[in-house]
Amino acid sequence: MKTIFSGIQPSGTITLGNYIGAMKQFVELQDEYSCYFCIVDQHAITVPQDRLQLRKNIRSLAALYLASGIDPEKATLFIQSEVPAHAQAGWMMQCVAYIGELERMTQFKDKSAGKEAVSAGLLTYPPLMAADILLYKADLVPVGEDQKQHLELTRDLAERFNKKYNDIFTIPEVRIPKVGARVMSLQDPAKKMSKSDPNQKAFISMLDDPKQIEKKIKSAVTDSEGIVKYDKENKPGISNLLSIYSILTERPVSEIEKDYEGKGYGDFKADVAQVVVKAIEPIQSKYYSLMESSELDDILDHGAEKANRAANKMLAKMENAMGLGRKRR
Ligand code: AQP
Repeated sequence: MKTIFSGIQPSGTITLGNYIGAMKQFVELQDEYSCYFCIVDQHAITVPQDRLQLRKNIRSLAALYLASGIDPEKATLFIQSEVPAHAQAGWMMQCVAYIGELERMTQFKDKSAGKEAVSAGLLTYPPLMAADILLYKADLVPVGEDQKQHLELTRDLAERFNKKYNDIFTIPEVRIPKVGARVMSLQDPAKKMSKSDPNQKAFISMLDDPKQIEKKIKSAVTDSEGIVKYDKENKPGISNLLSIYSILTERPVSEIEKDYEGKGYGDFKADVAQVVVKAIEPIQSKYYSLMESSELDDILDHGAEKANRAANKMLAKMENAMGLGRKRR
């Protein structure tokens, strides 16, 4: 059975973008692959976090993974910082990566732009991400489009390591959904929807209530043409809403366009809001019951145990290949 690894940062409550681009794929893939799904809290601290809020976000993200349909009987769900091999292997991969290639990462450029104090971790986050993936010999990494560049770097680093030290890593393939790989901000459809966007109106959180969802979609930036038609170049706002509608209802965009011929944006936006509420509501009700149960800790403990076992095996191979520590007999 082939292996999948993917992670989500607990840097806020996950958005509809994270759900469509990542989580929804995870649920679809868990029957066919051996899956490791991670709450990448060490990635989250590359930018400032409030400690109490971070702890809450970690737990909340674990519950959202499960509420969205991740089955702990099929997939291993765990927290990155509870598997020390990630940080250890991350350091080794930093020593394989070059500063120049890390500085070229668009996410680093975006997140560091205009900031005076940028953590070194923000620059060296991609080698840690490479370690996350390579430790589990992942064949496939399902992510949204924004992570494509980091995945390409992971492949480069793995190939470099295999050539320089020993051929131990599986070179992972990236899996990006055909539709919904880049859900855009509701307030600036040229930008992707992000959970850490300071403008709350720009994203739909998976824990927003129906009123908030309706309000946010109603105030989504569109154009003045008044025609519901997919045209990413000239109508990015409407195209974004059409994509969301299409993915959540599993109906082709062309069919939805026909439904709104002669109708205005008001009707369309009201229906998009209903479609989103319908998709999110069952996830939320499972989420709230999980948050009250002790089941969550048991699942995470078990996940950490399984992940530690697998990761430590590869870590030993990496140390051996690089000549770290003493030879074990
Ligand atoms: N807008 C998006 N559309 C589709 N997929 C998306 N992903 C993120 N944003 C979108 C995918 O979600 C997964 C988890 O992402 P992450 O938490 O590791 O970090 P990120 O990509 O930086 O996501 P955010 O929401 O923008 O977080 P912050 O605001 O903390 O930087 C990944 O598979 C990602 O591709």
